Amino acid sequence: MNNINTPIKRNSGLQAAEFHSKKEAKAGDREYVRWVKEKMKAGKLTGILVENSKKEVVAGGCIWLKEKPPRPSAKKKDVPYLLSVHTEKAYRGKGLATLIVKESIKLAKKLGYPRVELHASKQGEGVYRRLGFERTNEMVNKFKS
Ligand SMILES: CC(C)(COP(=O)(O)OP(=O)(O)OC[C@H]1O[C@@H](n2cnc3c(N)ncnc32)[C@H](O)[C@@H]1OP(=O)(O)O)[C@@H](O)C(=O)NCCC(=O)NCCS
Repeated sequence: MNNINTPIKRNSGLQAAEFHSKKEAKAGDREYVRWVKEKMKAGKLTGILVENSKKEVVAGGCIWLKEKPPRPSAKKKDVPYLLSVHTEKAYRGKGLATLIVKESIKLAKKLGYPRVELHASKQGEGVYRRLGFERTNEMVNKFKS
């Protein structure tokens, strides 16, 4: 549980830092870690972590079983959603994120799900595309005020 804080903090911190002050980003991190722990306890989220030879976490990602509204065609009430994919700078370009995404696809298949969903950052898009992810027709309306 302690280990998973590392990639989650760095990842959410980095993303939040693009939009808020450092203080707000830190508060966002704490809130996010709390949410992750809650979901883990409920059996709705699991982490996939990569350690180096010193047992330090150098890359990680989370699979969250995200609730979905019922649909006649859907056999499952939730969908595996991959989030917080992050690799420490010194370990990038070695295929670790690729490994994490592959493992999450394997896990989703093993649990009988037909798909994995995620929101891609610009940096992550290439990794996801190579592994078969494609854009959908999701839309958003970001209010100006
Ligand atoms: C995006 C991110 C997770 C990628 O992590 P990574 O471990 O470097 O990913 P990989 O090594 O699997 O792939 C990255 C690149 O290395 C290349 N690569 C893959 N395996 C490789 C290997 N064995 N040797 C060398 N390069 C390799 C890939 O082709 C890829 O190239 P790309 O830049 O064209 O996509 C990392 O840059 C990161 O943490 N970014 C900040 C957070 C973020 O944006 N996360 C994604 C959230 S959606």
